[in-house]
Amino acid sequence: MARDGAVYVCQSCGAVHTKWSGQCTACEAWNSLVEETQSRPPGAMAPAKGGKARGLAFETLVSETPAPPRLSTGIAEFDRVCGGGLAQGSAILLAGDPGVGKSTLLLQVCAMAARAGARCAYVSGEEALDQIRARAQRMGLADSPVELAAETSLRDILDGLKRQRFDLVVIDSIQTLWSDAHEAGPGSVTQVRAATGELVRLAKKLGTSIVLVGHVTKEGQIAGPRVVEHMVDAVFSFEGERGYPFRILRATKNRFGATDEIGVFEMSDAGLREVRNPSALFLNDGGERAAGAAVFAGIEGSRPVLVEFQALVAPSAYGTPRRAVVGWDSGRLAMILAVLEARCGLGFGDRDVYLNVAGGLRIGEPAADLAAAAALVSSAMDVPLPQDCVVFGEVSLSGDVRPVGRMEARLKEAAKLGFGRVLAAPAAAETAPLAVFGVSRLAEAVRRIGDGVWE
Ligand code: TYD
Ligand code: MG
Repeated sequence: MARDGAVYVCQSCGAVHTKWSGQCTACEAWNSLVEETQSRPPGAMAPAKGGKARGLAFETLVSETPAPPRLSTGIAEFDRVCGGGLAQGSAILLAGDPGVGKSTLLLQVCAMAARAGARCAYVSGEEALDQIRARAQRMGLADSPVELAAETSLRDILDGLKRQRFDLVVIDSIQTLWSDAHEAGPGSVTQVRAATGELVRLAKKLGTSIVLVGHVTKEGQIAGPRVVEHMVDAVFSFEGERGYPFRILRATKNRFGATDEIGVFEMSDAGLREVRNPSALFLNDGGERAAGAAVFAGIEGSRPVLVEFQALVAPSAYGTPRRAVVGWDSGRLAMILAVLEARCGLGFGDRDVYLNVAGGLRIGEPAADLAAAAALVSSAMDVPLPQDCVVFGEVSLSGDVRPVGRMEARLKEAAKLGFGRVLAAPAAAETAPLAVFGVSRLAEAVRRIGDGVWE
């Protein structure tokens, strides 16, 4: 060890090193080690005070206490992501890029919950109280009985929260807090970890729900160590593409609900507006559907969502053709292109390929394979799909089109929005209220799109 008690903590993964070096050996991040003092070697337990340990008392799985009550915030999209309202005493980390709207969302959540009778506090370490008041004014929430504080000292915050019982406390942000028990600066791994630990403990002890705002670094990780994600009950990420008003709240971890649930919002000049029916929003409505567009009937969380895939296949001007994709996985695009080439005889080697999911949504479902393929084929052949056709299906490397889960919900949503045709695996015909064009091989789908016959 360099100095008595000095250790080097990686600011990106939290690994502890005894020697400084330019690269963290655990996560391979460069220049991420920062010296921090620890009174004990990492991992060592403090000697027990006053003699023996108490031993371990075991209990059964049977619970006498009912499930913790949920606090309904009055913002249905937020409650949905929580798993049906905020669980009492839960600790949530809300992560997102700067400017995406984290403070706006949480001020709204606080204000609405406070209006409904919950006792809510909003503690900001980033903005002055007047700034927050001005924002509330703009959103028409100035009359709501939220208790505001501008504070960064962990000790003062904990003290304040212990004195008064709140139902919901927002800390904006965890990176601004500092505890005088640690030497490291605010935002360092040690501080973030200590502050999170204390706040989570307090949430459990008092039954207060605490939402911590966490910044995301340039690399897309939550700043500070991953351990923060392990300490809280739920991690929500707030996402949005630059230039689009839509914001998606997504649970990536949730001890009190499903993790694939999303909440959809639209940023307006009076704060975030809930979007109850996202399908209508992600469809590029108005006018003919051009060649290269295919509507995917997807499922996001518990809800069906229709969204348009847009592809452009154009001759490449350079030796290496370009592949650009927004809203979908680029590895998946490469796979679909390879399958189209190997199984359907459609070559993309001398063509640029651009693929875009409309509206700024990110699709992760394998069920989108066939929709992406249909958009690509439609653009490559310059033949549009029928206006009223939705597409879904997983494509395997062998070129098979596989049925996917929750087909009935997908088809119902499509029918509700006026779609009359579906291109999918033949199994869809069992439940379809629409005309099903079943394909069991990707090559069949390519032929149908090329022929343009949908009778
Ligand atoms: P903010 O909540 O401050 O983002 P974060 O806390 O995630 O950094 O949101 C900032 C952006 O939101 C800012 O660019 C302005 C925009 N905005 C609106 O468009 N309308 C509004 O009513 C508000 C309050 C913010
Ligand atoms: Mg903010």
